[in-house]
Amino acid sequence: MENPLYSITYGLYVVGCFAGDRPAGCVINTCFQVTSENPMLAICLNKNNFTLECIKKNPRFSVSIIAEDTDTMIISSFGFRSSRDADKYAGFGYDEIDGAPAVKGQFCGRLVLDACDFVDCGTHVIVVARLKNSYPGSGTPMTYAYYHKVIKGSAPKNAPTYRETAATAPAAATAPASSAEKPEVRRFRCDVCGYVVESATDLPDDFVCPVCGVDRSHFVEIQ
Ligand SMILES: Cc1cc2nc3c(=O)[nH]c(=O)nc-3n(C[C@H](O)[C@H](O)[C@H](O)COP(=O)(O)O)c2cc1C
Repeated sequence: MENPLYSITYGLYVVGCFAGDRPAGCVINTCFQVTSENPMLAICLNKNNFTLECIKKNPRFSVSIIAEDTDTMIISSFGFRSSRDADKYAGFGYDEIDGAPAVKGQFCGRLVLDACDFVDCGTHVIVVARLKNSYPGSGTPMTYAYYHKVIKGSAPKNAPTYRETAATAPAAATAPASSAEKPEVRRFRCDVCGYVVESATDLPDDFVCPVCGVDRSHFVEIQ
């Protein structure tokens, strides 16, 4: 029986903030409107995420609402690496909207917010923020379910709704099957984002993960 928590629906968003004068940010699925008058919103960030550190120092941030046709490489770039050691905006660029960076691309809309309260929830912090401005975009908002079912994407452990699945679980440390038992289709799992690819042969050296963009060396064969 499916865990009822898995029936809670979410969208997908890119948070943009500044780390000093360089842009930072990450993908989140936790964003909701709290009040309608003089709107307040809330997002939920892992305490280890650089994005939270940045917003605590500079409360102005943007939220870009991901559409079904937003470039999925944006999700890969912003959802699986930290701005501590990567320039996630490289290759995309950004616009500065009302003092917050917003990655260039096609989105359903953009929000500009100021964080005004931080609620400690243990591993995560709920950031309560006041809406300062909003800009319409286009497209159909991508739901978390669409991301999992259609894009076949996964979420890393820092996501509040992380679930361990066959795709994200560590590869089984069992002895290799004998050639007689070898399945016809081999499965390889990306050790960065958990994407699983099936192939009758070994993956080619120039294989690149379609979800997070890492090279062949990050794929481990699983049972
Ligand atoms: C689909 C998806 C949903 C995510 N949702 C959240 C979220 O709601 N909150 C969060 O803190 N991290 C979430 N993450 C994980 C962060 O994007 C990820 O940990 C990122 O590397 C943090 O980068 P940073 O250290 O630059 O802030 C999500 C990632 C993905 C791919």
